Amino acid sequence: MEYKNLHPQGPEFSRIIAGAWRWHTVSQETVGRLIHAALDEGITTFDHADIYGDHSNEEIFGNVIRKESSLREKMQLISKCGIKFKSEKRPATWIKHYDTSKEHIIWSAENSLKMLGTDRLDLMLIHRPDPLLNPTEVAEAFSLLKEQGKVLHFGVSNFTPGQFRMLQHYLDFPLVTNQIEISLSKVESFSNGDLDVLMEHEASAMAWSPLGGGKLMIGDREWFGKAAKYNASYAQLSLAWLLMHASIFPVIGTTQPERITESVKSLAIDLSRQDWFEMLQWVTGKEVA
Ligand SMILES: NC(=O)c1ccc[n+]([C@@H]2O[C@H](COP(=O)([O-])OP(=O)(O)OC[C@H]3O[C@@H](n4cnc5c(N)ncnc54)[C@H](OP(=O)(O)O)[C@@H]3O)[C@@H](O)[C@H]2O)c1
Repeated sequence: MEYKNLHPQGPEFSRIIAGAWRWHTVSQETVGRLIHAALDEGITTFDHADIYGDHSNEEIFGNVIRKESSLREKMQLISKCGIKFKSEKRPATWIKHYDTSKEHIIWSAENSLKMLGTDRLDLMLIHRPDPLLNPTEVAEAFSLLKEQGKVLHFGVSNFTPGQFRMLQHYLDFPLVTNQIEISLSKVESFSNGDLDVLMEHEASAMAWSPLGGGKLMIGDREWFGKAAKYNASYAQLSLAWLLMHASIFPVIGTTQPERITESVKSLAIDLSRQDWFEMLQWVTGKEVA
């Protein structure tokens, strides 16, 4: 496994990150196996959000840590906050909305710590850009959580370059990432400034749905031919395509321990620049200018 800083000031994460969004669809025992399969392969970074699995996934994951407390020191934990939706677990919310108030960010971070069975998050993200976001309040919440050692680093998710730059302006410490959708089925970030603004700030991208949420796995003969050229599975090739960009960390979403193991080989694929561009051309339908 390769380990790399998201930003020169940290944190250091595994280049492939395991995402827990779908993990409520499997048993508690399988979640334990997913965690161990990841750690066995050197995937030490896990991506969560307060809302995953209707607010249940952090707790399911935390149950594994509560049982085997030595695991916590071997991993880095990410969580997100700011989305609220109707749920029996949140009876006060009657419409889906965003909340990036100071009070909610702090409450959400503390709740994630409790659910995950840990005393700190390595990284916390604002899940979606909030039209009512008050950067001064966000900065106050982040600073307090940082001072208290409850959250070590901060970032955002699904922000535009302008939104990233704006929030960074209010902070005394770096936003280390923007977690955005990037894959062979979503290539806009390579040209719309998403990656440029991160590199400008020496931050990195985390790519969610790196296999297009599974859609990409329905490839055609041409694609599988390319995978065969590299003696790789199509999933491995799709991840290798993302990893060719120096500042992208794919967040894989499988619920199958064997597929976590399979994903790691993507790091060993030495994709040629011309193959990378041919794959880009297949998805955009045109040659670069
Ligand atoms: N920040 C955000 O707004 C945001 C939004 C969405 C997701 N995320 C994060 O990104 C993570 C990954 O998202 P994702 O789950 O959509 O990622 P993904 O890896 O693109 O898709 C996972 C899906 O693809 C299937 N799949 C994986 N490997 C396969 C293979 N070899 N053949 C066929 N199907 C395969 C999986 O099925 P199996 O489970 O059966 O393998 C699963 O249904 C999430 O867990 C979450 O942490 C963040």
